[in-house]
Amino acid sequence: MADVLTIFIDTASPCRGDAAGRGRVEPTAGRTVAALVVATLLSASAPARAAPDGDAARALARQNKCFECHAIDKKSDGPSWKEVAAKYRGKTEAPARLMTHLTTGETAKFADGHEEPHKIVKAPEKAQIVNLIDWILSL
Ligand code: HEC
Repeated sequence: MADVLTIFIDTASPCRGDAAGRGRVEPTAGRTVAALVVATLLSASAPARAAPDGDAARALARQNKCFECHAIDKKSDGPSWKEVAAKYRGKTEAPARLMTHLTTGETAKFADGHEEPHKIVKAPEKAQIVNLIDWILSL
């Protein structure tokens, strides 16, 4: 978390790289404000993104027979879910992308080259699908 803070604060600090230092806003004040903003953002966003429930996610995947084509950490007919998580690491559009992938039957390309609509996940509650997606992305 300290790293994240440092990165945020560095980017937010004003007039960085202005060699002449002209028009430079008081850097300490800038940093303090940035730190406060970051702290507020972090505390505001924390409860919204609860850690995914791995047991519930696995159970839903089992019910939907996802493991016929996927394994968590090795390639099967489909990519391993760790590979999927790595591919989407740091990409904010990932949850929405996977929601589309898992609910619209979009074309999936198999290792042998053939294509067919991807399996559509079924769950009583949309929140369960969100949890499955968050869990896959957390692997
Ligand atoms: C019949 C085999 C099969 C089943 C069953 C299956 N998948 Fe897939 N899945 C694939 C293949 C093949 C791909 C690769 C698609 C591509 O890259 O075009 C894929 C890709 C994915 C991806 C990565 C998508 C991306 O954008 O990179 C995820 C996540 C995924 N599947 C989750 C699931 C879940 C969850 C289930 C169960 C509801 C499931 N799959 C069931 C074959 C399957």
